[in-house]
Amino acid sequence: MVTGGLGYIGSHTCVALASQGYRVVILDNLNNSHRAVLDRLERITGQSFQFVEGDVLDQALVASLLEEFDITAVIHFAGLKAVGESVANPLKYYRCNVEGSLSVLRAMQTGKCRTFVFSSSATVYGEPAENPMRETFPFNPQNPYGDTKAAVEVALKRLIEADPEWNIAALRYFNPVGAHESGLIGEDPQGIPNNLMPYVAQVAVGRRDELAVFGDDYPTRDGTGIRDYIHVMDLAEGHVAALEYLTTEGGYLPVNLGTGQGVSVLEMVTAFEQASGQTIPYRVAPRRPGDIAQYWSDASLAAKTIGWRAIRSVDDMCRDTWRWQSSNPQGFKEP
Ligand SMILES: NC(=O)c1ccc[n+]([C@@H]2O[C@H](COP(=O)([O-])OP(=O)(O)OC[C@H]3O[C@@H](n4cnc5c(N)ncnc54)[C@H](O)[C@@H]3O)[C@@H](O)[C@H]2O)c1
Repeated sequence: MVTGGLGYIGSHTCVALASQGYRVVILDNLNNSHRAVLDRLERITGQSFQFVEGDVLDQALVASLLEEFDITAVIHFAGLKAVGESVANPLKYYRCNVEGSLSVLRAMQTGKCRTFVFSSSATVYGEPAENPMRETFPFNPQNPYGDTKAAVEVALKRLIEADPEWNIAALRYFNPVGAHESGLIGEDPQGIPNNLMPYVAQVAVGRRDELAVFGDDYPTRDGTGIRDYIHVMDLAEGHVAALEYLTTEGGYLPVNLGTGQGVSVLEMVTAFEQASGQTIPYRVAPRRPGDIAQYWSDASLAAKTIGWRAIRSVDDMCRDTWRWQSSNPQGFKEP
């Protein structure tokens, strides 16, 4: 079962799972996704997916689906992810992200399935004392969104301590970007994008006039923020690798999924211009409160444990984003 499977990362993971022969049941409430994704998934994979429209907070529904489809593992993407909104409305985030995860886990506990892959985030670390960020760094989330990811990770650790029958991976994503190489699925944020790459793509396609670069006076090589961008298909394949690891090794594995390389905002803009042939006008704006100057992952634990590393380049990230955005200027909405 893939919760949130019609969303950005979930949909790409469904493609990666199908290509490895997994049969997938998708549970999504369409809060931040479109039914049209289902048709795109079927076009890419040539396979059909079982889709159930519903909420992960509905424990009875989750339990009945686990039983009906004899689910062997749950990959849990469903959740809310806008940091700013989480600051304005923390209870909404604790409910959807923490209570939603507990609801899925309780539903699993009433049945047989004990294999769970969780969408965690590098935000659990907060501002790092040094880079790269390693899995042993303490949790120090700086906003309610980060709190929810840290809280669920703590619950997962306690759960497996109490009952070693569980097999759990907490995958700490760095900055997912890019799209499936077909250009049929990609990131389609509602409203003004919070993240660099969808913003750049919308400027390139003419939906927005210019990019705001938040801060060019950080202590970095060109003054702009540095992040560890990871191609969403690499990330998707990381989920398959984690699932296979849990099937053979079991246990509890919190692990970073990143490239291990930092890229600045201006480097990303230049790479996107080269890949797309478009000019990206930008202006420098003040720093956003709470933004961290730079962070990137130590990606070595993932290589050692689940045998996975990111293989796609910054150029691939930009080219695939552009293919998706230029062939779907309004995302999944009909123009
Ligand atoms: N995109 C990122 O930068 C990023 C980084 C780190 C972690 N994550 C985490 O990865 C997961 C997936 O992120 P994404 O970028 O694909 O987001 P997304 O919003 O595109 O996908 C989430 C999906 O979950 C669904 N959903 C939300 N609440 C639900 C609920 N209560 N019941 C059922 N379905 C629900 C939405 O409709 C959507 O399809 C999230 O948990 C997010 O916090 C994302």
